[in-house]
Amino acid sequence: MSSTSDRPTPDQQLLAAAGRLDRRRFLTVTSAAAALAFGVNLPGAHAEENELAPRTLTENPFTLGVASGDPLPDAVVLWTRLAPRPLEPGVGLPPAGSIKVGWEIARDERFRRVERRGSAKAHAEFNWSVHVDATGLEAAREYWYRFTVGQWTSPVGRTRTAPSHGRKLDSTKLGLVSCQAYEDGYFTAYRHLAQEDLDAVFHVGDYIYEYGIDSVGGDRRYTDRVLPAALNHETTTLEDYRLRYSLYKTDPDLQAAHAAHPWYVTWDDHEVENNYAGGIPEKNQDPAPFVARRAAAYRAYWENQPLRMPKPNGTDLTLYRRFQYGQLAQFDILDTRQYRDDQANGDGWQYPTPESQDPKRTLMGATQERWFADGLRRSKALWNVVPQQVVFSRRKNTTAASSKLSMDAWDGYPAARERFLTAVDQAGVKNLVLLTGDVHVAYALDVKRDFDDPNSRTVGVEFVGTSISSDGDGEAHPSNWATLTAANPHMKFYDGRRGYTVVTLDRQHARADYRAVTHITRPDGTLLTAASFVTEAGNPGIRPA
Ligand SMILES: [Fe+2]
Repeated sequence: MSSTSDRPTPDQQLLAAAGRLDRRRFLTVTSAAAALAFGVNLPGAHAEENELAPRTLTENPFTLGVASGDPLPDAVVLWTRLAPRPLEPGVGLPPAGSIKVGWEIARDERFRRVERRGSAKAHAEFNWSVHVDATGLEAAREYWYRFTVGQWTSPVGRTRTAPSHGRKLDSTKLGLVSCQAYEDGYFTAYRHLAQEDLDAVFHVGDYIYEYGIDSVGGDRRYTDRVLPAALNHETTTLEDYRLRYSLYKTDPDLQAAHAAHPWYVTWDDHEVENNYAGGIPEKNQDPAPFVARRAAAYRAYWENQPLRMPKPNGTDLTLYRRFQYGQLAQFDILDTRQYRDDQANGDGWQYPTPESQDPKRTLMGATQERWFADGLRRSKALWNVVPQQVVFSRRKNTTAASSKLSMDAWDGYPAARERFLTAVDQAGVKNLVLLTGDVHVAYALDVKRDFDDPNSRTVGVEFVGTSISSDGDGEAHPSNWATLTAANPHMKFYDGRRGYTVVTLDRQHARADYRAVTHITRPDGTLLTAASFVTEAGNPGIRPA
């Protein structure tokens, strides 16, 4: 007999907890949040689970594409999710049980030389997602992978393992993407990104947005389909977040970009809610139910990304992590959202105050700060690359001596930025490259040792990639272009169009090619390169390429 059918689902547990909010509310809601998080109902945790026969699948379950991620020298994570009817509740599969899914990874596109194969279980409790850590692979090599279940075979994905730790790699080409509001337009930039010759892609957050999406897909203005009404409200429950990922994952351009390259992903705010901070919601909502909302959002995020299984850690999900990329680069992928203090001065753009300048304020949390400083100290890489979420460098929005600053970015956490730069100094890091998202525009910035002193040392560079779609078509020079570039002499480039960035690292230079698309509110946008910059190894500073 199956035990899965009579156990309440996470959403049912949350709902039950919400009804008891007046009594011991915090503990109750926290335990509901724990039920949504990792460490409970882990796949395989119950032996008597009902395994469904593959013939149960009478419709193609591979509607959401495939993905690979977090490549190591000998392994890569392969992802897919079964969803015969992705936009229906329950995705067209039973409410409980598991299905065995076959996978294979080969040295060639036609699978004549299969390197490894095996099977993995897709579980209802993880929304029928499959995460395979394909190990025993060769370093710095291209592979192709696919999944099978019953009569169905998935699309083929291409991936690439990381170079071995000791290897002297001559160069690597990486993509930088962020911010893909579905309702703001087409993912045309991804169609072009899929054509680039890249070793890996960094996604630095806002993979989904939580706002309601109308029946025509907002500015996509569909005339050939009607999106379900269940999408037309802000996501708060596990069911909401899962449906939102299903919608995004059905996009053919996003599928193409995942199938073309392995991705290293991290999140920002909209994977949960705009400008949340740690356990604190955006507005003045009750923080207790927010913990459960956040746990649901984190769970849906993991279900839909090519990530290894994290260690269970209450309602948290550890996402910051480090990768060695031969001797050429070390990637320290940060999470500046989950552990941060609340935005100072009520958030938004504000003048600095003793509140924002409080030396105790943190953006990464103490544990991650220590982990980061330790990793820099031990680093032997030529380039220390830091993919992260919010703009690191100072951004004044007026040329006056004192200016408002963004309280959500590092400008709102100056003491934390100072500790970051001290760690860079103390580790003797010579070649710091920050890769940033969040702001829906592209910048190239010199990272100054002291942003109050334009003559202070340049200690690294920050490449801010624009959004894939958020904020619509955009324009090369937004209305504040002249003010921002004049107010911030370390800002060497600012462009307001949609697109992505190609970052090339070699022994002499780090280079950024800022790609832009002509428009995204119609699906036929074409690609151009807005500008290209380099910084020299050992001599940091943005220069035209
Ligand atoms: Fe965004």
